[in-house]
Amino acid sequence: MKRKLNKKIVIIVVVVLLVLLIEIINPIKLYNKHLLKELHYSEPSINNILKNGLKDDVLAMDYNEALNEVFKSKDFKKENFNVYKELEYRKLTDFTKQVNALISKGYTKEDVKNIIKSATDESLQEFLEKDYIEDVSSFLKYDFSILGNYDRYVDYLDKNNLDKELVVVYVNIGLDRDYYDTPNKVEKFSFDMLVNKYNELSKDFVPDNLIKVDEEYAVDDKQKGNETMLKNFIKMSNDCKSATGYKLLVRSGYRDYKSQEDTYNLYLNTYGKKYAENYVAHPGFSEHQTGLAVDVKAESSNTFAGTKESKWLRENAYKYGFIFRYANDTEEITGIKYESWHYRYVGLDIAKYIQENEMTYDEYYIRFLNNK
Ligand code: DAL
Ligand code: ZN
Repeated sequence: MKRKLNKKIVIIVVVVLLVLLIEIINPIKLYNKHLLKELHYSEPSINNILKNGLKDDVLAMDYNEALNEVFKSKDFKKENFNVYKELEYRKLTDFTKQVNALISKGYTKEDVKNIIKSATDESLQEFLEKDYIEDVSSFLKYDFSILGNYDRYVDYLDKNNLDKELVVVYVNIGLDRDYYDTPNKVEKFSFDMLVNKYNELSKDFVPDNLIKVDEEYAVDDKQKGNETMLKNFIKMSNDCKSATGYKLLVRSGYRDYKSQEDTYNLYLNTYGKKYAENYVAHPGFSEHQTGLAVDVKAESSNTFAGTKESKWLRENAYKYGFIFRYANDTEEITGIKYESWHYRYVGLDIAKYIQENEMTYDEYYIRFLNNK
């Protein structure tokens, strides 16, 4: 009897030990962990994924940084997983908590995704203080939407009969505000920088690699510009000569803050305020201060529009990375009247896109570069 009992105890102990051992070195669990790790999920996230029985769902998707963040968080709620898994990661304080708050307010999966991808900490905080808004996605669904501009989109649509995509682009440019009012500060030089009546350079901003223009390609020996821009300008000028018999010259390249101020004042005193405002940017707001803009002079004539060079340039500038910046039907967007002579270097890819899609640089920038 006693022997039988002993045997039973031994068997139970062995079984318990075996179960414990299998649990510790659980090969299936280890394998799942390995798979999730391979996808780049972090250790705390993996533990939470397994704890909630969501490994099959997670393994069926590509790695999602937002999900990794959510699974790490103490605010994770299994019932919100369907929303979490659609999110694009955005660096926001208390990411998961904020997402939960949006869901509690009644926003759909689509809305939450759009709100989060266009948010900053500040704009999200403000947005969460408002009552539920229906159909936010109709404004926020675009890649370039900005949550902080939401109320401005609504106001602008109220006053303008436009489709919502254009409302978002125009408000993001700043068109609902007066020129030069609360501009963004532009600090870093780059070939794709945007400087206009809403984006301002500091007084002492100087472009990278500023060099003098070879006199052969300029109206005087004082012209300057960014080295890459000028290299391409000279190539373009030589090809223009081959095609038309005439070169392109730099009439006005880089202008520092002070010389932009002088240019503005000269126009103001000669032609009056309205004319100066239409054709000359205020100091700090001119592309000429970036070293990437050129007012082009035709070799054959003193007026540029209508020359062979002007026609050739309009058709070919993009092949050298330049765009025609102020067309006659874009004044409402650029804030500058038609200038047949003003070209801006942006690099080959952007110039080609703009030539093919006929848009202002202001729109291009808002659509593709603003949120980067
Ligand atoms: N004339 C152009 C717009 C400028 O002043 O920058
Ligand atoms: Zn110009």
